[in-house]
Amino acid sequence: MTDPDASLDPAAPDLDPAAMRKHYRAEGLAERDLADGPVEQFARWFRQAAAQAHLFEPNAMIVSTADGDGRPSARTVLLKQFDERGFVFYTNYESRKARDLAENPYVSLLFPWHPMARQVIVTGVARRTGRDETAAYFRTRPHGSQLGAWASGQSSVIASRAELDASYAELAARYPEGVEQVPVPPHWGGFRVAPSTVEFWQGRENRLHDRLRYVAEPDGGWRVERLSP
Ligand SMILES: Cc1cc2nc3c(=O)[nH]c(=O)nc-3n(C[C@H](O)[C@H](O)[C@H](O)COP(=O)(O)O)c2cc1C
Repeated sequence: MTDPDASLDPAAPDLDPAAMRKHYRAEGLAERDLADGPVEQFARWFRQAAAQAHLFEPNAMIVSTADGDGRPSARTVLLKQFDERGFVFYTNYESRKARDLAENPYVSLLFPWHPMARQVIVTGVARRTGRDETAAYFRTRPHGSQLGAWASGQSSVIASRAELDASYAELAARYPEGVEQVPVPPHWGGFRVAPSTVEFWQGRENRLHDRLRYVAEPDGGWRVERLSP
């Protein structure tokens, strides 16, 4: 029998990360092309990202947090809403990320739109969404996801997969679909990240990428600065 992992030999030339090199397209991002504010600019790029067949989930972003001692952690989360007030995601309020945010509300969101040689990096402060807003979003989730929010004690250590499945099955029996409304778990809800900086990165030739960053001004406006790649 052939070894199914044989092709994963890290010494194979096509798997040498140092030899992996993509050439980024030449079209750049110029100051004159930018929208007045970062949310409108994000909306433009998000629309383009959503139209990209290669981007499975354009709303997937990497949320980085740090605890009160400055220890960082990162994970992928789905963006569920954005407007002038900020960028919203939903999660478990007892998860590691939520505990971090309770100790230290500073957060970074990174959208890795690699097929477009683009990334957007938001930094800002995260605050919980109101319960009404959370409930309104929770009601739009599929029944199974609503049960999942109850079944999972996100980020805690569990004994087995069976424990998780049993918890889900119990909830599914208690709240049959279309019969009983699943209540919003008190330990579940949203965070809205109010941006203080938003950087738009466009990969270009020779590693001379464009990096344009909006920085929030005290009067509510935005300053744009160009960063060296
Ligand atoms: C594509 C993708 C989307 C995800 N979306 C979410 C999400 O919207 N909310 C969430 O809590 N976890 C989401 N997760 C799971 C998180 O990455 C993470 O495992 C979980 O939130 C626990 O993180 P923590 O222990 O650092 O708090 C997603 C994972 C992936 C790969």
